[in-house]
Amino acid sequence: MAGTQEAHETHETHDAVVEAALGKLDLDAKARLLAGQDMWSLPALPEIGLTSLVMSDGPIGVRGVRWTADDPSVALPSPTALAAAWDPELARRAGVLLAQEARRKGVHVLLAPTVNLHRSPLGGRHFEAYSEDPYLTGRIGTGYVTGVQEGGVGTTVKHFVANDAETDRFTVDNLISQRALRELYLAPFEHIVENAHPWGIMTAYNTVNGTTMTEHRYLVNEILRGEWGFDGFNVSDWTAARSTTGAIEGGLDVAMPGPQTVHGPALAQAVRDGEVEETTVDTAVRNVLRLAARVGILEGAEPVVAEAQLPAPVDGEALAREIARRSFVLVRNENTALPLKPNTTVALLGAAARDARVLGGGSATVFPARTVSPLDGLTAALPEGALTYAVGADPNTELAAADKGFALRAICRDTEGVVIGTASAPNGQIQWMGSDLPEGVTHDTLHTVELTGTFTPRDTGQHTFGIKGVGAFTLSVDGTTYYDDVQRPLKGDPFISFFGAPEPRARVELTAGTPVEVSLTYVVARPKDLPLKAIGFTLVHQEPQRDPDELIAEAVAAARAADTAVVVVATTERVESEGYDRKDLRLPGRQDDLVHAVAAANPNTVVIVNSGSPVELPWRDEVAAILLGWFPGQEGGAALADVLTGTHEPGGRLPTTWGSLTDAPVTQVVPENGELPYTEGVFIGYRAWERAGRTPSYAFGHGLGYTDWTYDAIEAESTTDSATDSTSVTVRVTNSGARHGREVVQVYLAPADADPERPARWLAGFAGVEAGPGDSVDVIVELPRRAFEIWDETANAWAVVKGSYEIQAGRSITDRRVATTINV
Ligand code: BGC
Repeated sequence: MAGTQEAHETHETHDAVVEAALGKLDLDAKARLLAGQDMWSLPALPEIGLTSLVMSDGPIGVRGVRWTADDPSVALPSPTALAAAWDPELARRAGVLLAQEARRKGVHVLLAPTVNLHRSPLGGRHFEAYSEDPYLTGRIGTGYVTGVQEGGVGTTVKHFVANDAETDRFTVDNLISQRALRELYLAPFEHIVENAHPWGIMTAYNTVNGTTMTEHRYLVNEILRGEWGFDGFNVSDWTAARSTTGAIEGGLDVAMPGPQTVHGPALAQAVRDGEVEETTVDTAVRNVLRLAARVGILEGAEPVVAEAQLPAPVDGEALAREIARRSFVLVRNENTALPLKPNTTVALLGAAARDARVLGGGSATVFPARTVSPLDGLTAALPEGALTYAVGADPNTELAAADKGFALRAICRDTEGVVIGTASAPNGQIQWMGSDLPEGVTHDTLHTVELTGTFTPRDTGQHTFGIKGVGAFTLSVDGTTYYDDVQRPLKGDPFISFFGAPEPRARVELTAGTPVEVSLTYVVARPKDLPLKAIGFTLVHQEPQRDPDELIAEAVAAARAADTAVVVVATTERVESEGYDRKDLRLPGRQDDLVHAVAAANPNTVVIVNSGSPVELPWRDEVAAILLGWFPGQEGGAALADVLTGTHEPGGRLPTTWGSLTDAPVTQVVPENGELPYTEGVFIGYRAWERAGRTPSYAFGHGLGYTDWTYDAIEAESTTDSATDSTSVTVRVTNSGARHGREVVQVYLAPADADPERPARWLAGFAGVEAGPGDSVDVIVELPRRAFEIWDETANAWAVVKGSYEIQAGRSITDRRVATTINV
């Protein structure tokens, strides 16, 4: 990264270039720059040598401006997985790869990372955030932002602030005490601003304490910019900005997407009408120009990272595989069930073992060039004949994008039926936004889009087809037209029609291996007043549904015949995604029945949990081993094979408590009368479990790996009189197992005198360490001053709480091994 001195100099020259550019712009151009010109970009302003700034999601890959499998991206493990590695350096390396992907796709700003907290386990988008702990979230987010920006690409830390659940996300008013805001929800943002200096922030859809976040002057202008010194740009979440004056006065720079937004011409008009000062507009324009200078798209400004200083190229597949195995959390391993013994025969069971869920849904979606399922990974890793496979239970009770067995392309026609363009459509999905249309096609000439091609079933039986999207469609399979009608929009979240559940429209008996013709035609609608011209629909499909009891019986028979049964259980798109929360924490379908039955048939049953956030594991005491595999990214199956066969240990530790919904202390995510009071104050996650005196299934920080560790000693030393500013803790650990391994040494701070206003203990530091068998290592963990502070609401300031603290080090919040005391 550019050194401090260098960064400072760049900053100064940028200021001059930015001022000069600003001086050349008239009001209309300035207002235009503060609004998207389309879904993902800002307008170019040739008069100042500014090219168009392009943004893209985020966070596990860089989708680019096209929403299509045609334009693939490396898909890393999801954020809960990245956090489970407890390794900011690994997050930094992920960031470097993502910057490389961004540059490849012409993207200047990555819409990531998501640093909202796991307040309640029901949050639908938890897979996309890191942790229930603000400190861990801040450290991982800092690594990530640092890495992306080292590659010369900007980030937007999101969603500022308190977008911790999805229900009514556009309107919910989260009522949060100042203390909880500061100590929990703002804390990761503050940490990242201080340590990684992000070039952008994204303001959330929701309201906090009565003011919507795109207009929250106090949180944005006073705290983020004023107190913390943030000097990046502030972009609205997509369609979040609602008021021209409210947004610009509230510190919002850019309203996305465009072309119709509250900024742009409406903003210029507001200045002319005397409602907004032009200097307020100038401030926002400066922020955008500064970003443009940093990423190198403003003439005359040296980018922060020159081409010659770019990091060495990263192998995306190798990194995705490394992060995945470093993220897997082994929460149970009775009688050393894992790693598998050599020459073991394995019955691999579960629909997700064959069709892995490698990433979470919604805006975090990217399209990897390949995905390695557990079946692929284990087939490659085990000797021939060692592996059998059975579905066992299929949680996919819904239609999903037409993928396996489909060979489709899109044909565009005009009103005369003349072909004006074609495009490939690898998984039946069309998302053409703004000017992103096949060559030769314009929104004015396009009349119909036909998805056409063949489908070769892998199973015989009744196949179901449907359509995701709104408008007039005709669906034919094997020469018969099954649907010729109009699908109408659903009410509520505008993204629901996009992400929501489609209806079955055709049920057709088909034979495995025999291809049939498939055609889906959409007649382009031309609604007026749409903020953006877009064509979006998907052909969806579901395999024949077999009798669930029969499937389980088949899996049990396979499990009996093998030395080890490996069951992969998973959540589905309908359970965990953007736009809605979960109603319960159960695994969908008959998966729990499957595990109970397999565990009864084979004592060596290993369960792999393929979910982005906690699920209940009602059979957890019946099975030999449980490995939490998250949404593991495109190389997940290869990483799983590495870990099961023992070439690598699973390196993860829980970034969030796993327990049942009945025991979970914070479960309210549904607002009443538009309001969601965070009545639990600072008690979320492990802070709340401990206060409630409840024992979760698996505690925060827990994770076994393949070796064992003893904690031998702890010492705390303060180098100055102020213990809060200079305490470093040295923990001596020994690898007492038989193989090389990595341990995450976790340090918790516990006030000696119980204080009902404060948690019993909290994470104050951590460090990863590697050692060979029998080796001892001293691990040094510096305690940040903030660990000793609370937010004093009366003084409106941070305050050290004096007294005696126990510094506890261990393997999880409940498995504390050594302690020492400190007085501050
Ligand atoms: C999400 C953001 C995302 C944006 C653009 C929104 O719905 O909340 O996280 O960056 O869409 O896709």
